[in-house]
Amino acid sequence: MKILTTVAQAQAQLHAKRRVLVPTMGALHRAHAELIRVAREHAGRNGEVAVSIFVNPLQFEPGSDFERYPRPESADEEFCRNAGVDLLFRPSVAEMYADNRSVFVDESSLANTLEGRSRPGHFRGVCTVVAKLFNILSPDAALFGEKDFQQLAIVRRMLRDLNFKIGIVAVPTVREEDGLAYSSRNQYLSVQERKQAPVLYKALCAAANAGKKSAADVVAIAREIIREAPLAAIDYVEVVDAENLQPVERVGLNSVLLLAVFFGKTRLIDNIRLG
Ligand code: PAF
Repeated sequence: MKILTTVAQAQAQLHAKRRVLVPTMGALHRAHAELIRVAREHAGRNGEVAVSIFVNPLQFEPGSDFERYPRPESADEEFCRNAGVDLLFRPSVAEMYADNRSVFVDESSLANTLEGRSRPGHFRGVCTVVAKLFNILSPDAALFGEKDFQQLAIVRRMLRDLNFKIGIVAVPTVREEDGLAYSSRNQYLSVQERKQAPVLYKALCAAANAGKKSAADVVAIAREIIREAPLAAIDYVEVVDAENLQPVERVGLNSVLLLAVFFGKTRLIDNIRLG
């Protein structure tokens, strides 16, 4: 496995092979292993699987967990080696951002709702870093998990509107046995919080399977189940259209139920397709 830490090194690597990128912020877990596995399928035997690890300060809103975000460098490196990654790109913040940086990528429609409302500036940070990673590593395709549903929609929109010639592959959410979606932030949960966190997937499934056509009813079912967990504090539970992320009143084939819920200081997100 090749490890690159500078932009110059990465851009000097002319690659004739098909390259498939898994952008990450590290603290790699089973869901990343699944992304890497699917990346290998898409790269083919002769292609190259690249992983980037960069805890992107731009996508952490002020006062959030940038400082305490886990950075297990050598474990992540080992993880990538074991997963058969060909190229690991692991730049520093100074390498990625000039102090007087003044150009950003702003998605101005899909980013105004859900996560974007609760985390101002978050998607500007995501789009900016993803665009930079695409320019630095020139992948043919890139993989994103469906857990971050809004991120996936926004990255797709950025690709369309800025004409990036990169294929996006969406990978279904990977869950622990009790239904909790894998996330690097799960490790912040206390024992009690971790015990209660599976209520999120339980709520999503119950709401999705109740056969309700009114979005308000779907949301009410999910909220009622989440309230069973005393440590859960709901940020939002919403039914939106999967393409434009606007709220819908009636559940249709293209509807998705999304939620963000705090357990203590830890904010977890999850979603399920309806219809
Ligand atoms: O989903 C993530 O881990 C991050 O938002 C990403 C896409 C790597 C950009 O920093």
